[in-house]
Amino acid sequence: MARLERLFCQSPPWRAFTSRVVLPWALQGVALSGDVLEIGCGSGAMAARVLEQFPDIRLTATDFDPKMIEVASERLTRFGDRVRVEQADATALRYPDGSFDTVLSFIMLHHVMDWQPAVAEMVRVLRPGGRLVGYDVTASAPARFLHVVQRETHRLVERTELEGALGGLDVEEFGVRRALGGLAMRFRARRHAA
Ligand SMILES: C[S@@+](CC[C@H](N)C(=O)[O-])C[C@H]1O[C@@H](n2cnc3c(N)ncnc32)[C@H](O)[C@@H]1O
Repeated sequence: MARLERLFCQSPPWRAFTSRVVLPWALQGVALSGDVLEIGCGSGAMAARVLEQFPDIRLTATDFDPKMIEVASERLTRFGDRVRVEQADATALRYPDGSFDTVLSFIMLHHVMDWQPAVAEMVRVLRPGGRLVGYDVTASAPARFLHVVQRETHRLVERTELEGALGGLDVEEFGVRRALGGLAMRFRARRHAA
């Protein structure tokens, strides 16, 4: 992640905005329970809010970047053994098949050049009937501009591409909806019950 974006992700205004405004919108009314995995947790701002809001969940918060893992570990330490913070590459998760009830992916997919295997991994680690819930920026002109200016490695995802990728996996009740005038998209899928 570009330095500027990393700093922005850790800033108090972004943390307040994501936890109070973005999280309820991103969860799409889904109530979390059981074992939850967050991919690309960044500074842990969303993870902290999720843990506060759903006191019965056990959360595994992961990120590829060791610096973000450090920041998230510090932020989430107050939740004790309800949370594990671990370095993980979204494209090659070390968790066995069917380990989680819900996988969360908040504005991280476009950071992964090889995003299709990452989506397949998210579905693989879901239990039968488990849910994938997330959102991301779309391949819009403003998002392209921002990422080029920051000289950041990225691959913006088209809504139809993501829908096609989900359609090829072991899921049902899946969908990708454009939001915020086409600047963002929310997605969800449920792994087929066994
Ligand atoms: C924009 S931040 C989002 C952070 C957090 N989800 C939020 O909503 O505040 C994207 C995160 O994805 C992480 N990331 C990028 N590539 C990754 C990969 N291959 N596997 C796991 N995380 C990755 C980055 O390190 C970064 O922390």
